[in-house]
Amino acid sequence: MADSATKIDMGKKPAVQDSVPAREPTVIVDDVHIVYRVHGAGSGKGSATSAISRIISRKRASGVREVHAVRGISFTAYKGEAVGLIGSNGSGKSTMLAAIAGLLPTERGGIYTNGQPSLLGVNAALMNELTGERNVVLGCLAMGMSPAEVRSRYEEIVDFSGINDKGDFISLPMRTYSSGMGARLRFSIAAAKTHDVLLIDEALATGDQAFQQRSKARINELRKAAGTVFLVSHDNSSIREVCERTIWIEHGELVMDGPTEEVVSAYERGERPQH
Ligand SMILES: Nc1ncnc2c1ncn2[C@@H]1O[C@H](COP(=O)(O)OP(=O)(O)OP(=O)(O)O)[C@@H](O)[C@H]1O
Ligand SMILES: [Mg+2]
Repeated sequence: MADSATKIDMGKKPAVQDSVPAREPTVIVDDVHIVYRVHGAGSGKGSATSAISRIISRKRASGVREVHAVRGISFTAYKGEAVGLIGSNGSGKSTMLAAIAGLLPTERGGIYTNGQPSLLGVNAALMNELTGERNVVLGCLAMGMSPAEVRSRYEEIVDFSGINDKGDFISLPMRTYSSGMGARLRFSIAAAKTHDVLLIDEALATGDQAFQQRSKARINELRKAAGTVFLVSHDNSSIREVCERTIWIEHGELVMDGPTEEVVSAYERGERPQH
């Protein structure tokens, strides 16, 4: 089924751990497989001889390469939880977040979400040619705020981002910002709204110390506002501070899912649990 982010029909009870009936599931990932298809990438061996034989035979490197990025992952996240996602480069963390956000179809399995997930990545779409100010306004409107609401929140968002701490940068185009400044503004816009499910990919890592503290505090507020937060990071101290639960992914498979301290310290020791 290519239907990745369907709303949960709360009338139908999903098959999840029923030992804690008080907790409300917000995201259910059920045996999910995600396959990227790369078109025109050839069917494999990128060796010199294969390239030469392709040139000689005038054949184009056609065909579709498949990358099986997520291989049968299942977990359930609940309201009020902050869940860390860790794993080495290319293990499938960003893919998993994009799928929860409904941006990638699943090859097999299903993802069910209760509420609207919002993906907050360092690559979130802000427009480089527009000023920070315009991006704040457009970003807020895009998240569903009314123009009046945007006006009332504007100062707070700019203050939170700290973009103007070193002069009037908010009236300059985004392309003049450092990568950290851009990331801060993205985070500040997204964090201005309480999200049902907030998906954060590495956004904290780019900010400086003071901004990281502010964003951690804000994530905790968002959690208390009963949303669910997913945080992908290579900074284990951020994961430890923000998340009480962590999921470790390697080669698209779930290695461990449990209390943050247990999972992160096993990851740091490179200890995979015995299956
Ligand atoms: N658009 C894409 N097309 C094809 N393959 C992709 C694409 N995006 C990611 N992949 C592949 O999917 C796998 C998982 O990538 P993903 O970006 O999810 O990893 P990650 O855990 O977020 O890594 P990192 O820590 O480096 O951000 C990798 O093998 C990667 O090469
Ligand atoms: Mg990633």
